[in-house]
Amino acid sequence: MITGASSGIGRALAVTIASRGARVGLIARRASVLDEVVQEIGRSNGAALPIIADVQDTEGMRTAAQELAKAFGPIDVLIANAGVGPTTHASKLEPAEINNVLQINVVGAANSVAAVLPQMISRGQGQLVAIASLAAYRGLAKSGAYCASKAALSALFESLRIDLRGSGVNVTIVYPGFIKTPLTEGRARMPYLLDLRDAVEKILKAIERQKRSYSFPWQLATIVRSGLIMPAFMYDWIAARSSYRE
Ligand SMILES: NC(=O)c1ccc[n+]([C@@H]2O[C@H](COP(=O)([O-])OP(=O)(O)OC[C@H]3O[C@@H](n4cnc5c(N)ncnc54)[C@H](OP(=O)(O)O)[C@@H]3O)[C@@H](O)[C@H]2O)c1
Repeated sequence: MITGASSGIGRALAVTIASRGARVGLIARRASVLDEVVQEIGRSNGAALPIIADVQDTEGMRTAAQELAKAFGPIDVLIANAGVGPTTHASKLEPAEINNVLQINVVGAANSVAAVLPQMISRGQGQLVAIASLAAYRGLAKSGAYCASKAALSALFESLRIDLRGSGVNVTIVYPGFIKTPLTEGRARMPYLLDLRDAVEKILKAIERQKRSYSFPWQLATIVRSGLIMPAFMYDWIAARSSYRE
């Protein structure tokens, strides 16, 4: 079950996974775009079930998971990928925008997990995958809502990973850098920008190996991680000049 399967990373993951023989459940809000993905998968003889749902809708996500399990059998892997990533300067901070980003990126992922986890626990197997971001590590310019949401998503899945030890349910948190998708279209400064196909290969390898955590590309991941041990004054100075995500 892949959320945000109508575009970008989710769509490319769905097409690739289906081409390898898995049956995929595709969740997103835009029916017409989701149909295109189903057709693309069908052309390579893959099996996909499109389900129109908003990840913010707790009951809707439960129903979606039930529908999927009825059609294809128990859900083995959830990829909680649906997300939005606006860029807004602090001076234009809007609580409504922050609420919206947190609702989709964090509560939406929690709704997705809640829809599949009881069944995974009772079967003693399954895998929960979160598509977080390198933006989860520290605050970035003009990205308060996005960074807050990805930090929360990361902490949420890390807590789940600890609680689920020994249950047979694995948790994988993926922290991508910049990837060419509609979400990043038009942005000027994206160091170590990755092609979607390369990024999807890396994400799939991390999922297949059931890695607990995977940050990439390594060059940007190393720079971002070094920020974790910098004092605040030094980090602010560097981060203000880098102004990534514009
Ligand atoms: N691209 C990057 O550089 C990058 C880097 C790090 C992390 N990420 C993360 O990767 C994920 C996918 O990003 P992307 O670049 O592939 O973006 P994208 O092309 O804009 O795709 C976003 C997907 O999320 C879905 N979505 C958004 N709100 C939703 C909602 N309320 N309910 C259900 N589905 C919803 C959209 O489908 P509908 O509009 O049809 O609902 C769409 O399929 C996001 O979580 C993003 O934060 C991306």
